[in-house]
Amino acid sequence: MNFHILTLFPEMIMNGLSTSITGRAMDKGIISVNAVNIRGFSQDKHGHVDDYPYGGGAGMVMQAAPVYRAYEHVMENVGASDSGKSPRVVYMTPQGKVFDQKMAQELSKEEDLIFLCGHYEGIDERVLEMIVTDNVSIGDYVLTGGELPAMVVIDAVSRLVPGVLGSDISAEFESFHDDLLEYPQYTRPEEFMGMKVPEVLLSGHHKNIEAWRLKKSIERTKERRPDLWEKSIHNESK
Ligand code: 6GU
Repeated sequence: MNFHILTLFPEMIMNGLSTSITGRAMDKGIISVNAVNIRGFSQDKHGHVDDYPYGGGAGMVMQAAPVYRAYEHVMENVGASDSGKSPRVVYMTPQGKVFDQKMAQELSKEEDLIFLCGHYEGIDERVLEMIVTDNVSIGDYVLTGGELPAMVVIDAVSRLVPGVLGSDISAEFESFHDDLLEYPQYTRPEEFMGMKVPEVLLSGHHKNIEAWRLKKSIERTKERRPDLWEKSIHNESK
């Protein structure tokens, strides 16, 4: 799967995703991350990509032309014109649909995804109208730019791509599968500062362990995420 990110801070994206699991997936060629600097598509001799907002007001607005040219550059790379394929263009904005695991699943089916990251007071609406297919937010709070949100989405989507996680099953039994939070985990030693590992986990009795884990998942979801618990009751998938 190929991620293309239109941004003024490509090094932030590359540094953020080159470590750990996403970094290894990049090394293995299972995913690619191509951060494109919008500033490289400025036609201004000083490399400006922003200007004052029409109508006045605080802050600066990213201009349409450099964003559009950066987009065209990515579309050429993807081979969009010959193949007729048109990748989704995800604009990271607090005005978007709030990202969740279901959206991650859906996006993980794409071959190419283009992310557009804004800064300052936003991007000229005309280029957004032309290229954006999805407006996505990562929650109800305001950040300084779309880079961290894009990294959040890319991380969540990448780990659903086959081969990115150690074993393909590990993405299945985890928080939000079935709308339940994960059960607690323990590793050696058996006793830490007087606290023991729950007996059942040492028993080797797989049925009992499974039952204990489900019970813990349910308790934990009721206690920590009553909203998710309500949803999971109505889903009736268990
Ligand atoms: Cl996608 N962008 C910005 N700037 N702030 C956010 C966000 C995105 N999602 C939540 N807050």
